[in-house]
Amino acid sequence: MNALAEELNEALAGSVAERLLSALGRRMYFPKGIVSQSAEADEKAHRFNATIGMAYEGGEPMILDSIRAGLPSLSPKEAVAYAPTAGVAALRSRWRAELDKKNPSMRGRDCSSPVVVPGLTAAVSAFVDLFLDEGDELALPDLSWPNYRLIVEERKAAKCATYPTFAGLGFNVEGLESALRASANRSKAAGKAAKAACVLNFPNNPTGYTPTLAEADAIVAAFRRIAEEGIALLVLVDDAYFGLQYEEGLLRESIFARIAWAHPNILAVKADGPTKEDYVWGFRIGFLTFGSASLGPKGYDALVKKLMGLVRSSVSNSSAPAQNLLLKSFDAAGASEQKARLRGLLAERYARARDRLASRPLPSCLRPLPFNSGYFLSLECVGIPAEALRKKLLLERGIGTVTIQDRCLRVAFSSVEAGDIGELLDEIAAAASAIAAQPKGT
Ligand SMILES: Cc1ncc(COP(=O)(O)O)c(C=O)c1O
Repeated sequence: MNALAEELNEALAGSVAERLLSALGRRMYFPKGIVSQSAEADEKAHRFNATIGMAYEGGEPMILDSIRAGLPSLSPKEAVAYAPTAGVAALRSRWRAELDKKNPSMRGRDCSSPVVVPGLTAAVSAFVDLFLDEGDELALPDLSWPNYRLIVEERKAAKCATYPTFAGLGFNVEGLESALRASANRSKAAGKAAKAACVLNFPNNPTGYTPTLAEADAIVAAFRRIAEEGIALLVLVDDAYFGLQYEEGLLRESIFARIAWAHPNILAVKADGPTKEDYVWGFRIGFLTFGSASLGPKGYDALVKKLMGLVRSSVSNSSAPAQNLLLKSFDAAGASEQKARLRGLLAERYARARDRLASRPLPSCLRPLPFNSGYFLSLECVGIPAEALRKKLLLERGIGTVTIQDRCLRVAFSSVEAGDIGELLDEIAAAASAIAAQPKGT
């Protein structure tokens, strides 16, 4: 059991609550991860807050004019009536049409209708409920969104099987393939089906990496090889940062479009939503879409109904005003131009960070991990503790960052104005050098 859960259980020792907690209740805790480090930064990061996965401009969250203007235009029904369990029908079909626009390889392909859930977190959680049992495994790169572990291991008592994210400067396709094979072997050895599951999240949180087109081809080829051996392969595609690629030669479509129909033994589940794509972090809207060469309309309908059962039995339905506002914003005048402008701001911040790292190398105790997309870059701490660096930056320099596994410092360049990126990285370099120069044990 996690030490934080034990601490909470200790606080409840002897109480009636201790006697009443479920196994899940006993396992649960609130991690000292991104959310609590970000809350700490809210208080203390008076210079730059590069913690949370949001995008700011002039100290305010970025917002599309279409969203701001749409708020008073909602009818009473759009504002306060219950939304259908699976989401507002017009939004679901519009999102499906948008998927075709954004992913040309999905055109003409059969997949389920997208089902609305309250954000991508809920999408991952519903995916885990639908497909994983206690003890089952989900393969993930070692550098991934920490909430996967809380959902998979603590909520579900399933296991995360990790592999090293990078091989050299690229995505570790071989590591992913062997993790899936090892998982399938363990499943068979335990007397269960020959099956394996993984998450693909590109652009990745926390590294900001998207595979090249060649790497994407290699991932698809690896999945086909596994599927051809009769292994049932389940792939969650987490497209939280969809569309934020900043370099040539990268996979721009969702990898869902390439793998869903690659082999009948593959089932792909796409988790996506407007959280980051449309700059509406607090809306709490996400979508889950199923795709597989082995499913037809009947099968998709059955999976959608099962998912609706999960929604109905947990949150009942998702926010109606948020869904109706999003739907209206698609056709609002100037919305796509404004989206392109905000995306341009993020691209500029990325370019500043990339150019700063190329022109003035960091001290040897900080190794930038490959990044080319998304909201973040990560710096691997070599010989210095990442948590000491985070604390020093926060308490002495008023700069908020996030540690990942006490091994990396995650920097959300999405939240820092382009003109401040150079100074931010200079400060991180100086703080890291100061820690490295301290005699050990001080
Ligand atoms: C990789 C990844 N997946 C899912 C989410 C959750 O998104 P949402 O805010 O829509 O729940 C995040 C949010 O930071 C994320 O980084």
